[in-house]
Amino acid sequence: MKILITGANGMVARATIDYCHSIGDQVVAATRQQLDISDIQTVFDLFESEKPEAVINCAAYTDVDGAQSNADACYKANAFGVENLALASKKIDAAFVTISTDYVFDGLKSDFYTQRDTPNPRGVYAESKLDGEIRARNAYARSIIVRSGWIYGAGGTNFLSVMHRLLAEGKTIKVIYDSYGTPTYAVDLARRLRELAELDLPGVYHVTNSGNGTSYEGFARKVCEIQGFDIALLESVSVSDLKRPAPRPVSSKLACLISEKLGLAPLQNWEKALAEFLK
Ligand SMILES: NC(=O)c1ccc[n+]([C@@H]2O[C@H](COP(=O)([O-])OP(=O)(O)OC[C@H]3O[C@@H](n4cnc5c(N)ncnc54)[C@H](OP(=O)(O)O)[C@@H]3O)[C@@H](O)[C@H]2O)c1
Repeated sequence: MKILITGANGMVARATIDYCHSIGDQVVAATRQQLDISDIQTVFDLFESEKPEAVINCAAYTDVDGAQSNADACYKANAFGVENLALASKKIDAAFVTISTDYVFDGLKSDFYTQRDTPNPRGVYAESKLDGEIRARNAYARSIIVRSGWIYGAGGTNFLSVMHRLLAEGKTIKVIYDSYGTPTYAVDLARRLRELAELDLPGVYHVTNSGNGTSYEGFARKVCEIQGFDIALLESVSVSDLKRPAPRPVSSKLACLISEKLGLAPLQNWEKALAEFLK
């Protein structure tokens, strides 16, 4: 398949590019420098010249706290950029997959969020991502929206890379015991993004590693267990102890109502995925 991947320097993009190459796809990997998704003319020009059969949008403004004071830049990528890609995909008749987030939910539900739950985003980043979902759907009914959360992988800075570096240096870290999510290994997500592009069935999908999810503290404990780090380095704190510019959902575990019904196997358990990545 000829496949265009945007935001090519990002963490999920890199995993997706690697996976697509590994199965023999013809990959057009477009970095932000090559394709600013907020520039509609550049988007249409590249789509017309490359004519990919499928597009996987991994580009996004991902600085959750920074978005609070940079709403324009955030919306340019996460809302209008996604709409541009959907419109251009429609013009060339390509399948279109775009990534959204567990942050579209308010986090007040302690159980898993499914597609039956109504989004209620808090904060600029979360609102911009939901706006991107709506714009994608309105611009191109064929859009495939993939919500994921707590993603980690090679390259880039993410919650695991920071945690791992500090623990390896023997530093104490604060870990939140009362905030829950479903961790997702970028490599597992990448495979599913590609499967969804092939399946070409529009809708909203929730994609995370399987299992019951965990708290940040539970995740950090697992990292210590796998890596042999001293568990005494973990200082348990409540989410209410941390004052951060952007609000975040306290619980944002995701479950998918449709993937298995379509024959898609659940992604491996999050603990297994974490061990695979760390080893
Ligand atoms: N990481 C998580 O835990 C998490 C959780 C839920 C959902 N997601 C979603 O997953 C997707 C991938 O995230 P990620 O973790 O891979 O993020 P990432 O590592 O920050 O990568 C995002 C990439 O998008 C690029 N970008 C930003 N604005 C752009 C624009 N206007 N045009 C083109 N490229 C642009 C960035 O380039 P620069 O570096 O040059 O800015 C960066 O290379 C995003 O949609 C994100 O919202 C992530």
